[in-house]
Amino acid sequence: MSPSERGVRLLAFAASLRADSWNRRLIALAASAAGAGAEVELVEFHAFDVPLFDGDLLSASGIPAGAQEFARLISAADGMLVASPEYNFSLPGTLKNLIDWVSRARPVPLRGKTAMLLSASTGQVGGIRGLWQLRIPLEGLGMIVSPDMYTLPWADKAFADDGTLKEPERQTRLEGMVAGFVTLTGKLSSRALES
Ligand code: FNR
Repeated sequence: MSPSERGVRLLAFAASLRADSWNRRLIALAASAAGAGAEVELVEFHAFDVPLFDGDLLSASGIPAGAQEFARLISAADGMLVASPEYNFSLPGTLKNLIDWVSRARPVPLRGKTAMLLSASTGQVGGIRGLWQLRIPLEGLGMIVSPDMYTLPWADKAFADDGTLKEPERQTRLEGMVAGFVTLTGKLSSRALES
């Protein structure tokens, strides 16, 4: 059944393990905004705990449980929302490591799914450099990554006590961008790139 027939399903997670993660707060807001038009499964990054990628481990034991869980959840969804920190101008090694494990599954479960990338950063640039780098493995694996990427600079000062963004324009922009992503995902069959 296509997304237009049964409604859009999204997986959402923040690629940070930190208890007080700003990206976790941001993904909660994005998931809530998407909830108006989609069924959203919001999960903790800990659900995807995996060892460092090791080809010998893959040969001996197969794909580890955390990567299998990711594969299961993205296979059941039409797309994903991911809020990722920027580490040293790039994506976190933890996230790249997970992608590397998931890329060994056949068929590759990311292929034909949509993705919207977000980043909260305590710096002034907001994480956009990391998101440009995150696009590369995701697109390489066949994901349809939205051209709209949401970045939140000065994240440690950005949230109000109720979890929304203090600056109304930033909140409105987030809601609009997420709504656009839900519409985009609904228009694309998850089988669009299946060969
Ligand atoms: C950072 N941080 C950071 N911020 C940024 O805007 N650009 C960068 O290149 C980096 N690099 C970086 C490397 C490492 C190893 C750490 C730990 C942090 C700061 C980062 O934005 C900040 O720690 C965020 O709070 C991380 O996201 P979470 O964990 O709060 O979601």
